Amino acid sequence: MYSQGLIGADGSTNETEEFLAAFQARIDAEEKIEPNDPMPAGYRRTLVRQIGQHAHSEIVGMLPEGNWNTRAPSLKRKAALLAKVQDEGGHGLYLYSAAETLGVSREQMTEELISGKAKYSSIFNYPTLNWADMGAVGWLVDGAAIMNQIALCRCSYGPYARAMIRVCAEESFHQRQGYEIMLTMCNGTKAQKDMAQDALNRLWWPALMMFGPHDGDSAHSEQSMKWKIKRFSNDALRNKFINATVPQAEFLGLTIPDPDLNWDDTLNNGAGGYVHGPIDWDEFWRVVNGDGVMNRERLAARKRAHDDGAWVREAALAHAEKRAARMAAE
Ligand code: 3HC
Repeated sequence: MYSQGLIGADGSTNETEEFLAAFQARIDAEEKIEPNDPMPAGYRRTLVRQIGQHAHSEIVGMLPEGNWNTRAPSLKRKAALLAKVQDEGGHGLYLYSAAETLGVSREQMTEELISGKAKYSSIFNYPTLNWADMGAVGWLVDGAAIMNQIALCRCSYGPYARAMIRVCAEESFHQRQGYEIMLTMCNGTKAQKDMAQDALNRLWWPALMMFGPHDGDSAHSEQSMKWKIKRFSNDALRNKFINATVPQAEFLGLTIPDPDLNWDDTLNNGAGGYVHGPIDWDEFWRVVNGDGVMNRERLAARKRAHDDGAWVREAALAHAEKRAARMAAE
């Protein structure tokens, strides 16, 4: 039984209508829920699920770019990419720590990831074929992540919201270094601009999928928005991303690979916005369910790193035990 929680050993809960109403009133009053506050089992479960998957996405998200650290075209590009990949590792640690405040262990979350039980963002199951992909990943993937993570800075769960504030500050550097790579290539030779266009063609639609299924097909959105875990719907954030990114592509002189993309003046209370073409949800679910180009390689790489790092964990734990024993004997 979690000390603060209402989850029985059999998974049952004793949540009365009064308790649930009092909790919702706190949410509606924009109060932050903290780890030791009583909370509905479903609220805890949704946060463990989302924060855990978010953390996994940060860690697995290091793999596509990490592969290019040794292939960067200059020392400056190498230094920027190393810094970015290192940041992502830190984001994963903040998020695992935030999830641990809900009573789940890092070991358990890591096991669920390595066994394929836990999800991570589908975007990371696409290959990064050349240096232009490093630009497109920073520009589009981190750009999409920022759109989503800025909203999470106002999440009702305190540790998650606070972790996002530092993440977003670093994420904006990630997006800018990616866009600067794209700008350099688009101002380069025709071959370089063609590489940038090819990277946009391959990563545009998977980046839109990062925001999740359409609102009507989202299993969790309605409740997550009621609990103010989510502040905007999947489609609202996706459209914000599209509206912000299309002008950036135009500035680069690149074409968004969506023949149905068009501007509609009537959207957003007359401010206008882009209408996009159909997203291939069969591809989305195929990749989410493990049949993407890189799913097996990503999990194998994560498992290898976990196995290779076992001695570090064992040494750190042995040191901590020795230190604790010495302090207890003093
Ligand atoms: N990839 C994999 N699974 C996805 C997905 C995606 N792009 N989009 C949705 N899903 C899954 C959901 O996890 C859920 O499955 P589950 O019930 O087994 O968990 C199912 O599809 C239904 O989707 P919902 O919209 O109902 O799920 P959510 O309410 O959780 O919304 C989300 C999905 C918008 C991704 C939300 O979970 C979220 O905001 N997560 C936090 C942000 C995040 O994880 N971003 C991923 C990228 S992080 C990143 O790129 C960092 C960068 O620096 C590298």
